[in-house]
Amino acid sequence: MTRFLFFSLFLFSSCTWNELPKIICVPDEQVYFELIQPIIENNCISCHSTAANMPAVLVSYDGIVEALRNYSLKEEVINRTMPPPLSPPLSESEINIIQKWADCE
Ligand code: HEC
Repeated sequence: MTRFLFFSLFLFSSCTWNELPKIICVPDEQVYFELIQPIIENNCISCHSTAANMPAVLVSYDGIVEALRNYSLKEEVINRTMPPPLSPPLSESEINIIQKWADCE
């Protein structure tokens, strides 16, 4: 929860992304390392590594940005299609964090 509050503070203090047109929105790399990577590592990497021969390889920032663009990662997460039914689900706040990050908010 503290981490999420910190994240919100960070969002409110950085207005740069809101001023840019959506089309050049690039999810922040620093936020990726602080907040996104841990979620992906705990919930997705077991399946989405290079070894697994998956459409979406989620081991790096670039891989995730590519999956956002080409494999509708955000929608998979919001619709709870990923992680799949037999894996532990993401929490509301984890889903929120990924959604906001993907939207560059
Ligand atoms: C238990 C294994 C497993 C886990 C854990 C898992 N995935 Fe997947 N994922 C799959 C499989 C298998 C596919 C390909 C088949 C499909 O689309 O259902 C896939 C496909 C995808 C795709 C591509 C969908 C498309 O457009 O084809 C994305 C994006 C994705 N996963 C994101 C994630 C994210 C983000 C997480 C963690 C929050 C995650 N996955 C966790 C097994 C997994």
